[in-house]
Amino acid sequence: MAPVGLKDCKAWQDAGMTLSTTSNEACKLFDATLYQYVTWTNDKTMGGIEGCLKKMKDADPNFVMGHVICNGLELIGTGRSPFIDKEFEKELKVMSDLAKTQPLTERERIHVAALETFAKGNFPKTLDMWEQILQDHPLDLLALKLAHDSYFYLGQQTQMRDSVSRVLPYWTPRTPLSSYVKGMYSFGLLETNFYDQALKVANEALAVDPTDCWSVHTVAHVYEMKADLEGGLSFMKQTENNWKGADMIACHVYWHWALYFIEKGEYEAALTLYDEYIAPKCFASESMLDVVDNSSLLHRLQMEGVDVGKRWDKLVQVTKKRTDDHILIFNDLHFLMSSLGSKNREMTTRLLKSLKELSKCPGENYQHSLIRDLGLPLSQALVEFDSGNYDKVVELMCPVRYKILNIGGSDAQRDVFNQVLIRAAINSNTKSHHNLARSLLIERDVLRPNSPLTERLMRKASAVHTLT
Ligand SMILES: [Fe+2]
Repeated sequence: MAPVGLKDCKAWQDAGMTLSTTSNEACKLFDATLYQYVTWTNDKTMGGIEGCLKKMKDADPNFVMGHVICNGLELIGTGRSPFIDKEFEKELKVMSDLAKTQPLTERERIHVAALETFAKGNFPKTLDMWEQILQDHPLDLLALKLAHDSYFYLGQQTQMRDSVSRVLPYWTPRTPLSSYVKGMYSFGLLETNFYDQALKVANEALAVDPTDCWSVHTVAHVYEMKADLEGGLSFMKQTENNWKGADMIACHVYWHWALYFIEKGEYEAALTLYDEYIAPKCFASESMLDVVDNSSLLHRLQMEGVDVGKRWDKLVQVTKKRTDDHILIFNDLHFLMSSLGSKNREMTTRLLKSLKELSKCPGENYQHSLIRDLGLPLSQALVEFDSGNYDKVVELMCPVRYKILNIGGSDAQRDVFNQVLIRAAINSNTKSHHNLARSLLIERDVLRPNSPLTERLMRKASAVHTLT
């Protein structure tokens, strides 16, 4: 549902969020870009995000908040970092230099400072700045959405929920995109295990706009977390036309759809979704969300004993370009799954070596500071799992398993690591690991009752351990 009117200079001013430009066109294009970011959709009638950003820079090359939204979207996409991309470093410098020469509002100044901090990898300090903006400007959707996504990257589920709940009363039904803010709140509720409340709020948002794909996504998660596979499959089928056009998240929603099939043990159906939607969308976008989903799905299928054929070989063509990125540990671990899956030893070695190097001097980069105690044990665990050294996997993963939350992503996404540990414990040669496997499976069953995958693993554990 495209917005009726995009905000010009006066409309931004009237909303209490003055933009320092005299160009009404630039202001409207800023609004159009923000709308597409929040709705996860490149709207062709608006020229898509890239088209809007280009036209905005043409309308006013010195528009500081224009540079802010442009650089903010690059950083939040986790595909570019000034550490490895000199061109991007220059783009960030242009923003900072312009900000120094203009009489900006306090809100705009904090936005610039937040991005400068974000570019250094200091996520926690950046979030403090966005929250500072939101205290004074609860309707600042750019600060709200960037904060929402960043909490997600940090695994800060409670903060992600509360950040939206604090501003929600200011978003009346008449405020454009207010239902999308509800959608964001529903996701925070979901990730803090308030499943029924999450569903209620997501459905309220969907009643306003059924194409709200972030709310659709919350509902998909609720079905996943409750292992209500028939409910999830029927919801996906019924709503597909509403969300399949949301090009920035459709791949991820199809990924959720495929997870229901994996849970049910219907691997061919999961592979069909992979081949028809999940892989083509990933190869077209090469967005990090799509790439990690591709890796995760193939890894899960492989753990279930499915031969995924040459699919890893194609995926690794995308991930190997990312070997030296190290923007998020979460991404690195998924790149590693692909290098292991495709037997690309050179990439595996290089990825591990560069991670080790970075762990020695993380500086203020938050993700790098997690490498030594979390990124490296998890990476090594994936390598050992691939080599069948299951005892080692358990030894590496068990001590850090409650810290895995810190690599970010959703509970559903991080379940892949839980599955690695459980399968390693089942297959380990160490007797005590078998008891651990049973404990972990009971735990998984309590959290997600009636999961066929848990039941399969329980049967496997019983069969393997009876033989030994
Ligand atoms: Fe998800």
